[in-house]
Amino acid sequence: MSLTAVRAGAYLHHLAFESSDPERLAGFYRDAMDMDAERYAKDEWRCQGPDRRVIVKNGADRQLAYAGLACRDKEGLEELKARAVAEGLSVLESPSPYFLDGAFAVRDPDSHLICFGLARPDTVKRNGLRGPTQHLTFASFDVEAFAAFYHDKLGFALSDRVVHEDGTLATCFVRSNHEHHTIACFKSNRRGVDHHSYEAGEWDTIRDWCDRFGERRIPLMWGPGRHGPGNNLFIFIEDPDGNWIEVSAEMEVVHDRPVKDWPQEPRTLNLWGKAILRS
Ligand SMILES: [Fe+2]
Repeated sequence: MSLTAVRAGAYLHHLAFESSDPERLAGFYRDAMDMDAERYAKDEWRCQGPDRRVIVKNGADRQLAYAGLACRDKEGLEELKARAVAEGLSVLESPSPYFLDGAFAVRDPDSHLICFGLARPDTVKRNGLRGPTQHLTFASFDVEAFAAFYHDKLGFALSDRVVHEDGTLATCFVRSNHEHHTIACFKSNRRGVDHHSYEAGEWDTIRDWCDRFGERRIPLMWGPGRHGPGNNLFIFIEDPDGNWIEVSAEMEVVHDRPVKDWPQEPRTLNLWGKAILRS
């Protein structure tokens, strides 16, 4: 089976969240996440920093409006679209303002709208702390359905799985380039976004993010720690709507190793200690 999403070199380019108070949420991303925030419509804000973008729209707190994955080139995008059609998925219009014409969207088994496209070049030079938008993680009742959609239908590669004693999936990590995961999914008693992550690259930059959060009296809610799958260093904070934000570093680069299964235990989530087990 062809790894079509990997061939397309897709990466997490932007996210759009709904909020009952878009102005407050956009203000948080401007101040805490070191982004510019501009109002584009009465109830829509666009926040942009260096290689990171978050759109905030009026709606329900913690609801993902859509995610935007950019492809390496037109050939990769067209192959991915052809694969989606061949797999019988409904190919929808992409609502994303950050993609050029030719973008498309699909809905995953939990109805999340996932857009694929070619990124519109950012004409503004953005300064700020390093932290590109890097991965999106869902909470779901059904991790097997997540894997069947992203791996079997769209051709994301499986990187790691976390497995319950009964053999069912607790977590699944999939990638669409050499970074260990672009999207992941935790089994949960709710359906939605678990967290989204910014890749600081190295430990010292996580320190700088923590200093920035500390100056603003934003407490870490988890970490610092190191995940088993992905081997990435991490800290977590929460935005005013309750969305979990991760700042990560040293994520594993995967070329050709086999898929690894991990046991569902605290050490898998945090090799250094305390874990937040989702199921
Ligand atoms: Fe993460």
